[in-house]
Amino acid sequence: MTADRVVLGIESSCDETGVGLVRLAADGTVELLADAVASSVDEHARFGGVVPEIASRAHLTAMAPTMRRALDESGLELSDVDAIAVTAGPGLAGALMVGVAAAKAYASALGVPLFGVNHLGGHVAVDTLEHGPLPDRCLALLVSGGHSQLLLVEGIAERITEVGTTIDDAAGEAYDKVARILDLPYPGGPPIDKQAKLGNPKAIAFPRGLTGPRDAKYDFSFSGLKTAVARWVETAQREGEDIPVPDVCASFQEAVADVLTAKAVRAAKDLDVDTLVISGGVAANSRLSELAAQRCAEAGITLRVPRPRLCTDNGAMIAALGAHVLASGAKPSPVDLGANPGLPVETIVVQ
Ligand code: KG4
Ligand code: ZN
Repeated sequence: MTADRVVLGIESSCDETGVGLVRLAADGTVELLADAVASSVDEHARFGGVVPEIASRAHLTAMAPTMRRALDESGLELSDVDAIAVTAGPGLAGALMVGVAAAKAYASALGVPLFGVNHLGGHVAVDTLEHGPLPDRCLALLVSGGHSQLLLVEGIAERITEVGTTIDDAAGEAYDKVARILDLPYPGGPPIDKQAKLGNPKAIAFPRGLTGPRDAKYDFSFSGLKTAVARWVETAQREGEDIPVPDVCASFQEAVADVLTAKAVRAAKDLDVDTLVISGGVAANSRLSELAAQRCAEAGITLRVPRPRLCTDNGAMIAALGAHVLASGAKPSPVDLGANPGLPVETIVVQ
């Protein structure tokens, strides 16, 4: 029987430097040991979005201290690590490169295998740290500043297939852009969520993108919604009216949550899947989780949403995916592993 193994995960695809540690037990279960994250979000705030150069530099300065924090949190030493996993893509090229270079250095210094894994798979794998093993088949809805995807997961280390994606903006990106229109701070999700609770979701009938009978059933589009909000606000301003920010937020939020949950539940039913995992920064949205819970219950679907801290980018999700990949017996990534900003979701581990 194999003894427990410690897997270290490094994440640097966007604006979070994450280092996580997990324990892979002999029976394949994975337990969280440490999750240290350093975010450069404040440095991007005045630009209203992530600036790649700033993110890369922030990863460089944060990598070693974040590693130290993760080790301290777990009470382990680097010599206890049995394998290293790193985000190989998708993400920002320069940002990914910092993590990949660090992971290679640690892996070669320690003489342990290195696995270059997929960031999107990590967002799904993280739920096993909170809710235990995933069923053989499940559907994942990934919604963050960079992604809006529906994925069919048939074994977290075996097969992940894209069922639908956004044809323009990601859900979180729409939140960030609408926040800018309304003079709310960046990132826009939390302030819009807060304002929406004070408003009427039926006040303004904003469009539900790609929900016509001939539209792609499982793809998303949020760009038209963002433009509709901008037009509505411009018109009100031109007519000298005060902008009812809570109503605009509530109506916008309702449109996003409605489309995301309707498409996810429809895909789950069509694909005969009985479990839905929602992950990514937007999974923290109060209306999205409320509506998803309601619609999943009506459809007999089990809903799994990791706690917000695990939903946003972190190293533990990469360690978790690395542990499942290690348990599957996959061979490590080659020594010339590189960052791949466009890594396809189907590539769970680079080989
Ligand atoms: O996963 P994440 O931390 O980073 C990536 O983009 O990969 O997601 C960040 C996104 C931002 O666009 C932010 O506005 C959004 O998640 N977000 C939310 C909420 N909290 C964060 N969107 C809606 N409601 C929230 N409560
Ligand atoms: Zn992400």
